Amino acid sequence: MTVLDVQAIRKAFGAVRAVDGVSLRVEPGEIVGLLGPNGAGKSTTLHMVLGLISPDSGTVRLFGRDPARHRTEVLSRINFAAGYLGLPGSLRVWEVLRAFAYSYGVARPAARVDQVIELLDLGRLRDQRFRELSSGQQTRVQLAKALINEPELLVLDEPTASLDPDVGDRMRELLLAQARESGRAMLITSHNMREVERMCHRIHFIAGGRIVAEGNAEQLAGEYGVTDLEEVFLKVARQ
Ligand SMILES: Nc1ncnc2c1ncn2[C@@H]1O[C@H](COP(=O)(O)OP(=O)(O)OP(=O)(O)O)[C@@H](O)[C@H]1O
Ligand SMILES: [Mg+2]
Repeated sequence: MTVLDVQAIRKAFGAVRAVDGVSLRVEPGEIVGLLGPNGAGKSTTLHMVLGLISPDSGTVRLFGRDPARHRTEVLSRINFAAGYLGLPGSLRVWEVLRAFAYSYGVARPAARVDQVIELLDLGRLRDQRFRELSSGQQTRVQLAKALINEPELLVLDEPTASLDPDVGDRMRELLLAQARESGRAMLITSHNMREVERMCHRIHFIAGGRIVAEGNAEQLAGEYGVTDLEEVFLKVARQ
């Protein structure tokens, strides 16, 4: 069953056509990348997928359902991580995660919190207040929060932006394993082209609110007559 099916969504903010007819699909276990220059409409697209804002037109279907009509069910099966998301700063790491475990109605919340703490290597930080963590440490808590309900679709807006190369690499391997072993699908944005080459099964390039190219990294490089995704990006961005 298709996890996410987006058809021709549009969103304007005043005169700005932030998203101008984007269609995309994500299948189980698939990692789909949304790439494009600053202001291209990536985050706006993700926010429409999550139901944080509603499209002016077009449709979003999650697990074959209309998320507006099956909001509770759909939200319990997805999750989201982004650097710009605030989490309650005065709570300790375990308390943040426990709160989300409760709000998602996770079975055996204490055990699941221990699991994600282990998975994200947050053991040493579990009693620290969220606001006292470095930004890379906060990012790891965001990812732990995003996995708390074992989502079938993980929406990640620049999830590794603040991570050092070592932790970034470990997070990529972790997410790849989550897709491979648990069939978790992901829709991800990133400005790190090597990361996208490593992680994404399929890529959509978006510019000016429209999808301008689509395929895997190799196909896109071939189509643009270049050797890697970084060069594809430069061509797309400078078109
Ligand atoms: N709430 C809003 N109100 C007004 N304009 C907005 C709003 N959100 C986004 N925009 C505009 O919509 C366009 C797309 O923004 P969006 O955040 O989707 O870009 P992006 O592709 O995520 O860029 P970046 O790579 O910088 O994160 C931009 O021109 C932005 O200024
Ligand atoms: Mg963005």
